[in-house]
Amino acid sequence: MQNITIIGTGYVGLVTAVGFAELGNRVIGIEKDREKLDLLKKGLPPFYEPGLEELLKKNFDEGRIKFSDSIKDGMEESEIIFICVGTPPLEDGSADLSQISSVSKEIAENLNGWKLIVEKSTVPVMTSQWIKRTIKLYSKRDVNFEVASNPEFLREGSALNDFFHPDRIVIGVESDKGKEVLLNLYKDFDCPKLVTDINTAEIIKHASNSFLAMKISFINMISDLCEKTGADIEKVAYGIGLDKRIGLQFLKAGIGYGGSCFPKDVRAFFK
Ligand SMILES: NC(=O)c1ccc[n+]([C@@H]2O[C@H](COP(=O)([O-])OP(=O)(O)OC[C@H]3O[C@@H](n4cnc5c(N)ncnc54)[C@H](O)[C@@H]3O)[C@@H](O)[C@H]2O)c1
Repeated sequence: MQNITIIGTGYVGLVTAVGFAELGNRVIGIEKDREKLDLLKKGLPPFYEPGLEELLKKNFDEGRIKFSDSIKDGMEESEIIFICVGTPPLEDGSADLSQISSVSKEIAENLNGWKLIVEKSTVPVMTSQWIKRTIKLYSKRDVNFEVASNPEFLREGSALNDFFHPDRIVIGVESDKGKEVLLNLYKDFDCPKLVTDINTAEIIKHASNSFLAMKISFINMISDLCEKTGADIEKVAYGIGLDKRIGLQFLKAGIGYGGSCFPKDVRAFFK
C-alpha cells in the first residue's frame, strides 16, 4: 500500500487515481476546477467513462480516495506525486506547458521531504529536466526530490481497462531509488515494464502517438488509390495487416485521425 498524490483529475488523472485506489493504495486527487471538485468530493466523476462511476464510488466509500484543491495537502500526504494536468496546444502547435509550470512552482513551495515527482502528462522531450530546474529554483528549502517520467497510453472509452491491462509500462528515471519506487507501485501489473532514462521515456510517448497517426494517414492514402482503381481497401488493409511486422490495428480507412490527443501530440512532436 502506498500513499499517492495525483495533481489534475481530468481524464488521465482521475482514471489513474481510481485505478491505484482500487489496487489498495491511498490516493488524494488534487483538482483546481471548482465544479469538478464539488462532484469529486461527493464521489462522482465529472465525465463519463465506462465503469468509472462505480469504481470511484466504491473506493470513495471505502476511504481509499479523496479530493482537495490544495497541492499543499497533496504534498503532505504522499511521497509519490503524479502530475496529470493538461498540455493543450498553443497556436503554433507546440505544447502549452503553463499548467505544468504552475504546478511545478507550487510543488517547489510545498516540498517537505523527499518526493518522487512523476510526470504523466504528455510533454515534449526534456520537460522533466525543466520541471526539475523549476522546482529547484522555486524551492524554499534544500530538500531532496527526484523527477521521473511515466507516460500514459490509455484511450478514452476503454480507459479503465487500459489502466489495468496496459501493453507496457514505461518508467523514465534517473536513480535506482526512483526505479524501485515505481516498479513497486506497478508490481501487480502483468505486462512488460520498460525502465529507461527520462528523455527516452518522454520520446517513447510522442513517437508512439505519431506512429499510430502515421498508420491511419497511410491507410487513408492507400484508400484513395483503391477508390481510383476499384480495388477493395478492406482487403488491402487486411492483406497488409496480416504481416506480423505491420499488424492489423490502426489500418481502418476513414476520415483520418482525430480525438483529444493525436492531432495535438503529432503537431507538438513535430515542433
Ligand atoms: N485524454 C486522453 O485520452 C489522454 C491519454 C494519454 C495521455 N494524455 C495526456 O495526459 C495529460 C492530461 O490529459 P487529460 O485528458 O486528463 O486532461 P484534462 O484537461 O481532462 O485534465 C487536466 C486536469 O488538470 C486540472 N488542473 C490544471 N491545473 C491544475 C492545478 N494547478 N492544480 C490542480 N489541478 C489542475 C484541470 O482542472 C483538469 O481537470 C495531457 O498531457 C494529455 O495529452 C491524455
